[in-house]
Amino acid sequence: MTGPTTRPMTRQTTMLNAYTPGAGHLSPQDEALAKRRAAALGPAYRLFYETPVHLVRGEGVHLYAPNGTAYLDCYNNVASVGHCHPRVVEAMARQAATLATNTRYLHDGILDYAERLLTHFPPDLSHVMFTCTGSEANDLALRIARAATGGTGIIVTDNAYHGVTLATAEMSMSIGPAVAPGPTVFPIPAPSAENYPNGIAAGFAQAVSDACDRMAAQGIKPALLIIDTIFSSDGVYPDPTGFLAPAAAAIRARGGLFLADEVQPGFGRTGSNFWGFQRHGLVPDMVSMGKPMGNGYPLAGLVLQPQTIAHFGAKARYFNTFGGNAVAAAVGLAVLDVVQDEGLQQNAAIVGAAFAEGLRSLAQRHDALGETRAAGLFLGQTILGNGQPDPARTARLVNGLRDHHVLVSSTGPKGDSVKIRPPLTFSLANVDQVLTTLDQVLKTL
Ligand SMILES: Cc1ncc(COP(=O)(O)O)c(C=O)c1O
Repeated sequence: MTGPTTRPMTRQTTMLNAYTPGAGHLSPQDEALAKRRAAALGPAYRLFYETPVHLVRGEGVHLYAPNGTAYLDCYNNVASVGHCHPRVVEAMARQAATLATNTRYLHDGILDYAERLLTHFPPDLSHVMFTCTGSEANDLALRIARAATGGTGIIVTDNAYHGVTLATAEMSMSIGPAVAPGPTVFPIPAPSAENYPNGIAAGFAQAVSDACDRMAAQGIKPALLIIDTIFSSDGVYPDPTGFLAPAAAAIRARGGLFLADEVQPGFGRTGSNFWGFQRHGLVPDMVSMGKPMGNGYPLAGLVLQPQTIAHFGAKARYFNTFGGNAVAAAVGLAVLDVVQDEGLQQNAAIVGAAFAEGLRSLAQRHDALGETRAAGLFLGQTILGNGQPDPARTARLVNGLRDHHVLVSSTGPKGDSVKIRPPLTFSLANVDQVLTTLDQVLKTL
């Protein structure tokens, strides 16, 4: 297992889905745009795909290029209720035209939204604090965990991503070796059958206990086990359901807290449940969320058990200029309305199951398709070459699909799996289009 100051070596061989300047087949206009971007935004930004996609408009599950070409979006879990959903746009515009101010005034909007959001949680999770990004929510969770436990030790998975602030970047192993893990960050292997051949639930919980032992050996007290409950950047590990409960018990037994990071799987995406943690039959101490929460508007938050925030709340004040502002609350409410009124969680269950089944049946004809891991409309598909996970082939497939106007990306520490998470409005016809295109592209690999 990796110690607190080392990155897993696998990170150095990751195939990123990224444009290399000078490569790809860009039109002269797009080449000029890429150059302008590099000049204005500097060197840290990346574009997806060998040949970047230039977009001007989004609607439903489609994104459109300047010449009108439609791309089928199988990757955007921010525009979860569909790109530019009219009800969300209308709620945003109406509130922006009425009152756009912060949380230091009495206003119904934030409370209508908070109370409605909390109906999606077990009763013990009864407070919500608003932020603008998932990073801020996780950063805040860390501050609260430190206050509640008196500890500083953090456990994350080997290829986790939890955000861009200093604290969250230092616990985001997937950023790569350029950002050193924080001195109190202890990574553990992701919950794959390969990493835990004797059983994922017991093995993963043991890894948590072992990490606590390593902390103790350095005089560090545990504060937090933070888990993206779908393991999105680790490669997508939804099963077996229930395997996370012993890990949550293990951190609590050592005095730490369990934070479910729902930025990726939250808001109905996994189909069977509204939140990823519910698939594991546990109640977290804190739950962070973001991305789909505002369908594109920067809206994120942290839901907590009251005793978790008691210490922090007694001493610290919390104010976030934009987090939970009146427009954010209106948008968040509209998103929840759409998820409910359009039956999107149920759609994710039905369409996601058909998607996974379609991939598995395609695998009978294409030996490049390895394991399919899926929960609702969150899918990870291992790509093989000569029977082994093959990052280069995965990259060729991702780019081949892009050239056929189907947008996906790759995931996992080596980039050997395709990650698929379309808007929740995805239809069975959309799935057919992906599978037909995949069949074509696989023949060319
Ligand atoms: C699991 C997870 N947590 C946290 C974050 C950070 O969210 P944000 O980009 O809104 O800061 C992300 C972003 O990709 C994420 O995937």
